[in-house]
Parts: sequence; C-alpha cells; structure tokens
Amino acid sequence: MLETLLNTGFDLSSDALRPFLSIENLYYLLAAFFFILALASLSKQKTALQGNAFGIAGMTLALVAVILVSIVKDTRGVIITIVLMVAALVIGALYGLHKAKTVQMTEMPQLVAMLHSFVGASAVLVGFNSFLETPGLDLADATAASENAFHMGEVGLAVFIGAVTLTGSVIAYLKLAGKISGKPLSFPGRNFINLVLVLAILALIVWFVNTRGIEGGLLPLLLITVLSLGLGLLLVLGIGGGDMPVVVSMLNSYSGWAAAMAGFTLGNDLLIITGALVGSSGAYLSYVMCKGMNRSLVSVILGGFGGDAPKGAQTSSQATGEHTEITASEVAELLKNSKKVVITPGYGMAVAQAQFPVADLTRKLIGMGVDVKFGIHPVAGRMPGHMNVLLAEAKVPYDAVYEMDEINDDFEDVDTVLVIGANDTVNPSALSEPNSPIAGMPVLRVWEAKQVIVFKRSMGNAGYSGVQNPLFFNENTSMLLGDAKSSLEAIIAAL
Ligand code: TAP
Repeated sequence: MLETLLNTGFDLSSDALRPFLSIENLYYLLAAFFFILALASLSKQKTALQGNAFGIAGMTLALVAVILVSIVKDTRGVIITIVLMVAALVIGALYGLHKAKTVQMTEMPQLVAMLHSFVGASAVLVGFNSFLETPGLDLADATAASENAFHMGEVGLAVFIGAVTLTGSVIAYLKLAGKISGKPLSFPGRNFINLVLVLAILALIVWFVNTRGIEGGLLPLLLITVLSLGLGLLLVLGIGGGDMPVVVSMLNSYSGWAAAMAGFTLGNDLLIITGALVGSSGAYLSYVMCKGMNRSLVSVILGGFGGDAPKGAQTSSQATGEHTEITASEVAELLKNSKKVVITPGYGMAVAQAQFPVADLTRKLIGMGVDVKFGIHPVAGRMPGHMNVLLAEAKVPYDAVYEMDEINDDFEDVDTVLVIGANDTVNPSALSEPNSPIAGMPVLRVWEAKQVIVFKRSMGNAGYSGVQNPLFFNENTSMLLGDAKSSLEAIIAAL
C-alpha cells in the first residue's frame, strides 16, 4: 500500500487508493467481531485464555487499520504521522509492559482506575481537536447545518463524559492506592451541588452547539471542561472506599461511552462499537457487583457509604465471645477424616498469595478420595472474578469451582469448610442483623457445615466492611491464626 501511496504522489483522490479506503470498514468490522468474541470467551474460565487471544487479535487489527488509514488520510505528510504514531506506540507499549510485569494482583483495581483516566483524557483531547478542526459553522444547506450542530453536540458530550471520567478515575486510583483517605467526603447539599453542576453543563452544551467559529465556541467548551472535571472530583470524593470497586466499574462504563462519543466525532465506526461494548459491559458489571453487595447503583452514586458504621452495628473491636484456636496438624487430621470439604476463599487468599498451596492441598485431598469443592462469593476479594482468576492461575480444576448460589444449599452435608482469608462474604450477621452495614448482603452459609476452619492472621482485624464476624465465635468454628500461605503449607506437610 505504501508503494501505491508513493506511486500516486499521496494523491488521496487517486483511484489506485480507493480499494484500500473501501476495505477500511471491513477491517473495523473484523476487529469489532474479534472484540465480541473476546467478551464472550472471557465470561467463562475455560475459554478466558482464548478470549485474551481474540482481544489481542482484534486490537492488533484495529491498530494496523487505524495507522494505515491515518497515513492515507493525513495531509500533513506521511513522515510526521509515522513518527508521531511510532513514538506514541513505543511509549505506550513500554509503559504497559512495565506495569503488567510489576503490578501485584491486589493492585489491579487501582491500575484499572488509572487506565480509565487515560481514556477520559483522550476523549477530552479528541473533543478539543475535533472542535478546533470543525467548529460551529454558518451553513446555508440545512442538512449540512444540522450535521454540524450534531457534531458540536457530540464534541460537548465527549468532553463532558471524558472529563468526569478523568478526574473521577484519578480520585478512585488515589483512594484505592491508599494515597488519600477512603472515607467519603460528605457535606450538606453535596448531591444538590452535583445536580446543579450537571444541569449547568447541559445548558453549556446547548450554548456550545449554537456558537459559530472557534472564538464563539471556545469559552463554553472550556467551561464545560472545568465544570465536568469538578463534577468528577466531587462525585468520587463523596463515595467511600467500600464502594470504590463498583465506582471503578462505573467509570469503566463511562470511559466506554466517552470513547463511543469520540468515535462519533472522529467518524470512526470501530471506536463507536468498541466504546458501546465497554460502556454496556461496564454498566452490567456494576449492576452485578451491586447485587452481590446488596447495594443499589443509585445509593452508590449518591455516596456516603463506607464512613462511620451505623448505630448498633458491631465494629471490629467488639468481640462477641470466646474463640477456639486450632493448629495446622489438627486441621490436617480433621481433613483426613472428612468426606466432603468446601473451600471458600476471600481477599486474604489474594493477600497471602495462597492460591498455589490451596491448589496443592486440593490435589492432595482429591488423591486421598476426599470430595473437594470451592464456593465463590460474587464479590469475594476486591474485583469481579478475583478468586476465579487466582484459582485458575494455580490450575485448580474448573469443575470443582462453584458459584455461591450453586453451593449454598449443600453446606449441611459438608464435613469441613476451609474459610481462607474470607470474612464479610461468610458473615452470618448480614442475614441476622438488620442494623449491620452489610445487612441483606447474600453470604455463603458456611456455618451450616459440621466444622468450619477460618484462616486469618489475627482476631484484631475485621473484614472490608469493618464489622465483626460472629462466625468466628461459633461452637463449630476453629480459628487457624497466621498467614494463610504458611498455614496451608504446614497442613500439607502434616498430611
Ligand atoms: P474481607 O471481608 O475483605 O476479609 C479479608 C480477610 O482476610 C480478613 O479476615 C483478613 O483478616 C484476612 N487476611 C488478610 N490477609 C491475610 C493473610 N495474609 N493470611 C490470612 N488471612 C488474611 O474479604 P472477603 O470475604 O473476600 O470480602 C470481600 C469484601 O470486599 C466484601 O465486603 C465486598 O463487599 C468487598 N468488595 C468486593 C468487591 C469485589 S468485586 N470483589 C467489590 C467491592 C467491595 P486478617 O487481617 O486478620 O488477616
């Protein structure tokens, strides 16, 4: 194609280039098809790897097509376009590789939040660029005039959503990384101010659409940007650390819509399709997470959760009785005599990186004829699918891994449950204490089993929600205190 370009002297109207330009959409369609296949495959553990491969193929195709189209369409000269693109690609790829190699599994949510801020920033930049190239115009032709107005509306919306995503994601990153307090910032009239900001931004977009020329449109566009950046800050500062993963998923959705808007302004169908896929899957994920935590999406957006525990709620410092401790060799003995064992992992398994000894123990027990299953709570850990990813990494057989709803009615027949670094997701007070901050959250009913062993480092710390867990003081519960990885290795050695 480069040869054709050279032969035509970069004349874009040349017939020789037409075949390439007409297959541009075919490339995009193929890439979009790969993205849909990737999403479908990623929804199951067995096909997740294949899903990644589809995603990589789609992205490679999309990048190649976008680069070639930019070279063909660019009027500033092919060299500068290639240099700029290669520079951006190299910087991005090097940074991405470095992050992928160094990030800890427990730091994934904040990494994702940071990446969303990039999408937000690029939507703002694309919006500005598109406005500077084609501002509001006085056009005699009614169709062209309405097209121009539509374009200005897209720019306004892209900048609005992009700027909210940008500052919202930066705050989410800072909260999740512990660089600022996770407590929700509340002050009187917070929601009212947010509402006024949204209405003001919408009014500014209407003003922006009706402006002519760069001088006319620049002021409303700058005001839209500043107010939207402020709105993103206020929205996420008001939400407690407890709801941050849902916020990250919501920002993921916003970043998708921002990309789709950028796709409209750039006239790029692939960006529209990809943005819509990200936008809708992020929104659905937020819904699934809220359901798993028994929270409504509206109450998450309105914020305030994750501050002080409500009156009457038990806090971590309030013990609810005597607990019984057990040693690793006693647990090994108990497991030897069990026919059915269920393992319910939680955030502590991720912290301890205990998935590998968990997998070793599972293999050992299965080899001894014990029936071993895993019970996975939908919000165990700190991100959707957190436990599934870790167990898959350690090569735990897929068919031993059950969702909460699939296994919750079976606990009565289970001899021993190993609660490995889980707390809120196995807390019976969610069902029995109407005042608890986690009241109504569906939980794994592990206490119905004959014997429960809880792996935890100390009795002093509570789970994510900060509430005490009465499970630890039940007669049929024993605490195996210490780092989960070391405890599991000691059990394996004893077996
Ligand atoms: P948590 O309630 O966070 O409890 C973690 C437990 O692991 C604690 O008991 C902790 O006690 C223990 N632990 C930590 N490090 C350990 C180590 N090295 N060895 C052994 N134990 C260790 O965990 P969960 O049950 O998975 O619940 C998840 C929570 O996160 C829920 O409240 C959920 O709503 C929230 N959340 C999850 C998501 C998603 S999508 N997964 C999204 C938003 C919010 P010690 O510190 O004493 O060891």
